[in-house]
Amino acid sequence: MRIRVTETAREAGQTIALDIASGLSSGAIRVLGVATGASPLPIYDELASFAGARARADLELVALDEYVGLAASDPRSFAAYVAERIAAPLGVPPERTHVPSGSGPDADAAADAFEATIRRVGPVDLQILGVGTNGHIGFNEPGSPRESLTRVVTLSERTRRDNAPYFPGVEVPTRAITQGIDTIMRAKRLVVIATGARKAEAVAALVSGVVTPELPVTFLSQHPDLTLVADAAAAGALCRRLTPFSPPRA
Ligand code: F6R
Repeated sequence: MRIRVTETAREAGQTIALDIASGLSSGAIRVLGVATGASPLPIYDELASFAGARARADLELVALDEYVGLAASDPRSFAAYVAERIAAPLGVPPERTHVPSGSGPDADAAADAFEATIRRVGPVDLQILGVGTNGHIGFNEPGSPRESLTRVVTLSERTRRDNAPYFPGVEVPTRAITQGIDTIMRAKRLVVIATGARKAEAVAALVSGVVTPELPVTFLSQHPDLTLVADAAAAGALCRRLTPFSPPRA
């Protein structure tokens, strides 16, 4: 695991954007896995400013997840986020932008179809990941098995609380379609962005090397090509973890 600690969230985003821009222009990234949420926004803002990021005409975007019950036209959907924040600035057309369908009559079938889509367009060359305050990745909540594939999941109360600001005055959806842990682990490279003190516990767990389904982010430490980029606040618990204080001998 490579660990990079930056002073600010913006620098964390810039660091990853540079990495992606170079992969896009060298041809190393044909399939880019994208996370939604607040953490990766500095990546996408920065990427949008690189002309080279448009270099690949055959670039495919693959999302991690979508709420069940939201249509792609709903501004709160991850489909809308991916279209506006990532696909449009990078010039990726809708037919090469893949997000699970949250609004169809059969969510299980939509999850299976999305897993098949990833197998068809993949492997994902670089997957961007955020992390939940409870250690979730995608919407793989605590307890998710290592071998899980894309499926319908029930969101934890903590995740629904964390995401409540995006749903002012209404209930946060209770279910989502998410890539499974195994689906995520098949990507060739994983890059985790963690910013803010609320992520410090999850970051420390990832770095600890102890793998537990209770903190799904810890599965990522088993990936052969993982980069963690954390700002100082998210890395706040790391020094203690990496160099534990030992009291001076008498
Ligand atoms: C988003 C996703 C989630 C978020 C996580 C952190 O596609 O899969 O795992 O990355 O909930 O969200 P933020 O970045 O908003 O704190």
